[in-house]
Amino acid sequence: MTHPVITQLLQRRSVRQFSGAAVAEADLQLILQAAQQAPTSINGQQVSLIVTRDKARIARIAELAGGQPQVAGADVFITLVMDFNRTAIATELAGATQVIEQSAEGLMAGAVDVGIMLNAIQTAANALGYGSTAIGGIRANPAAMIDLLQLPSKTFPLAGLTLGVPDPSQPGVVKPRVPLASFAMNEHYNQQAVRQGVEQYDQQLRQFWDSIGLREMPSYAQSTANYYQRIYFPTVAENLQQQGFAFKDQ
Ligand SMILES: Cc1cc2nc3c(=O)[nH]c(=O)nc-3n(C[C@H](O)[C@H](O)[C@H](O)COP(=O)(O)O)c2cc1C
Repeated sequence: MTHPVITQLLQRRSVRQFSGAAVAEADLQLILQAAQQAPTSINGQQVSLIVTRDKARIARIAELAGGQPQVAGADVFITLVMDFNRTAIATELAGATQVIEQSAEGLMAGAVDVGIMLNAIQTAANALGYGSTAIGGIRANPAAMIDLLQLPSKTFPLAGLTLGVPDPSQPGVVKPRVPLASFAMNEHYNQQAVRQGVEQYDQQLRQFWDSIGLREMPSYAQSTANYYQRIYFPTVAENLQQQGFAFKDQ
């Protein structure tokens, strides 16, 4: 029999329809506690969470994220903040001055930590029966999020996530992925496998949407092109700079 953790991971999907029932406070605390034990680069702990339960504020975040109804329908919204303010305080305590937030390395270390934390929150939430969707849409308007959450210099709202009780009549579907061999490669990168995987998956995703009656959904190639042929969030670099971040090596 497959291990229950593996079963949970194989079944994971974004949940965008909620029943409206509340996330129990004790469960939320457990989720936060479990998530905090995620690994973190240099033990810097450069992630902070802002938990929003106030429905008017959640509605505002939904608006800032580009008008996403699945955000407005969530019981809880958690913003994951890349937090080099905490580490600046620690560095200062040691009598030194932090510069890592001005480097490409710092941005990557912070972004990786945020991603790991996001997954830990979702995994813990799923285990307790809650549904969730990651929300990168908050980077459509980072300045307004920074203002709303009162984020200090050296911090940035990288992503968020919804939490709620899944609507049992619309539990979401497990979305297929590119072929495993074109994703997990042995010993070296295999360009041909990746290309074939893309071509195969483009058709597979089209058939998947058709099979669940969503004929208007774009294929993988079309959907990726729709996003990646332009820079869809146009103020990220500017707002990072305003928060004291830079992208350099020394
Ligand atoms: C960093 C990140 C940002 C995302 N942002 C959004 C978002 O703003 N809105 C949304 O509906 N889904 C968002 N998603 C969810 C993806 O669309 C979803 O994970 C993907 O389509 C795969 O579907 P699945 O999670 O159901 O397997 C995001 C996912 C990630 C990891």
